Amino acid sequence: MIKSIVITGASSGLGKELAKIALKNKCKVVNVANEKCDLKGVVNILCDLTDEKQIDKAANEIIKKYSKFDVLVNNAGVASEQTQNAIKYKEIERVMRVNAFAPIYLTSKLLDLIKANEADIVNVGSTVILGGYSEMSVYGASKWANRGVSIHQRLELINTKCRVVHFNPSAMATDIWDRVNGTKAEDLRKQKWADPANIAAFLWDIINLPKSLEVVEVNVKIKKN
Ligand SMILES: NC(=O)c1ccc[n+]([C@@H]2O[C@H](COP(=O)([O-])OP(=O)(O)OC[C@H]3O[C@@H](n4cnc5c(N)ncnc54)[C@H](OP(=O)(O)O)[C@@H]3O)[C@@H](O)[C@H]2O)c1
Repeated sequence: MIKSIVITGASSGLGKELAKIALKNKCKVVNVANEKCDLKGVVNILCDLTDEKQIDKAANEIIKKYSKFDVLVNNAGVASEQTQNAIKYKEIERVMRVNAFAPIYLTSKLLDLIKANEADIVNVGSTVILGGYSEMSVYGASKWANRGVSIHQRLELINTKCRVVHFNPSAMATDIWDRVNGTKAEDLRKQKWADPANIAAFLWDIINLPKSLEVVEVNVKIKKN
């Protein structure tokens, strides 16, 4: 069982559910997000992942104070939804910075440590990469980029003990949509969107598989019927 995990975006949704399971299993949790995770025992490193300098600072804090981690989960993400003729440059930039730039850059800053720890990397993508959704080209582009990163990271680490898992959940009833279009997690649950606690439990099992097994990429779709 892993002993220490760094999760970006553990202040809510999937990241927080993963943190809950980790804590139950006596695993130390470091949350890197804008907001604190309110679960007792979590170490919070406040960081706006759109900002290079703040990522530098967060990475340095991890290296100095919380260096013994077994997994880095690049989970923080934002959603975005608009028709093609309504895409704003600023929105492309915001979404790309959080969903694509931050996982690349934070992992790069921590890579020497990841190798030294023989730690694993999980990049949380989305099933948007399986075919796309209407009005999600900006979000989709960021998650395609994120998937590309996982493929390249894995190749670079192929001769090490470090694994790279690309984890693609589908519709989860979290606050991510409330931030975009006001849809509450509660309403999504009624529409049979996945409970993030179940998705986190599955991810926890993947992370804790013996090191001789590597889940390269996994897609978790919801089944409504
Ligand atoms: N929910 C879905 O339907 C769904 C489907 C497929 C994939 N996903 C992916 O799953 C992951 C988790 O999403 P979720 O549904 O759990 O969403 P969520 O509840 O909104 O959580 C997202 C997390 O990302 C953090 N975050 C966002 N922008 C940030 C920034 N600029 N700097 C630092 N932290 C930031 C948030 O922290 P703060 O609150 O502190 O800003 C929050 O902890 C994301 O990568 C998302 O794309 C979600």
